[in-house]
Amino acid sequence: MTGVQGSIGVLQGSIGVHGFAGWLEATSASDAIKSASWVIPLLQSIHILTIGIVFISFLMIVLRVLGVMRTDEPVDAVWTRFAPWMWSGLVVMAATGITLVVGEPEREFGTVSFWLKMLLVAIGVTGTALYGRSLRSAAAGASTVFPVSAKAASVLMVILWIAVIFLGRAIAYDKQVWGALSPHA
Ligand code: HEM
Repeated sequence: MTGVQGSIGVLQGSIGVHGFAGWLEATSASDAIKSASWVIPLLQSIHILTIGIVFISFLMIVLRVLGVMRTDEPVDAVWTRFAPWMWSGLVVMAATGITLVVGEPEREFGTVSFWLKMLLVAIGVTGTALYGRSLRSAAAGASTVFPVSAKAASVLMVILWIAVIFLGRAIAYDKQVWGALSPHA
């Protein structure tokens, strides 16, 4: 066991992750999710489909800020058009994701990818809310051209959401992706 693996194990042990995962795995809710073979594939399919809605809605807003698309529209109108799809998509992703966790807690909690993803999702949601607020307060007219700082922030947010997507997929390949860092190693 490597030093890093050891510290992840100690951290998980101290916050009782394995105990909690074991308790969750034994609940009737977890049994119900696991009992029907179509539930988890259906949840994963809805989760994957909703990535498209969330990511493309956010991208449409970013492409306005970067001056690539909808440059004749005020950013407020573009935000009002796409943000509801993004936020409701995130609610669906949280609901399907949490249900997947209840169904397979050991599978999820026992990976580096899941915890890193949850950290980036928290940063992503907070960052996107602050990003939206600052865009709309900064931009008055239809033809607003955004400063380099706003464009850089937009690209960073897109990279963050792509990292979340990668980490979501990496949960199933934690050992291959993180090698000795993975608790599964
Ligand atoms: C609170 C929010 C979320 C939770 C609790 C969550 C949880 C999960 C869980 C448990 C899985 C199954 C992993 C597995 O067992 O293989 C998963 C898969 C995945 N998640 Fe999330 N997720 C959340 C939000 C997101 C968001 C916002 C994105 C992207 C924008 C995302 C992208 C993915 C991807 C790409 C997969 C892999 C799907 C597959 O191919 O099977 N997730 N997520």
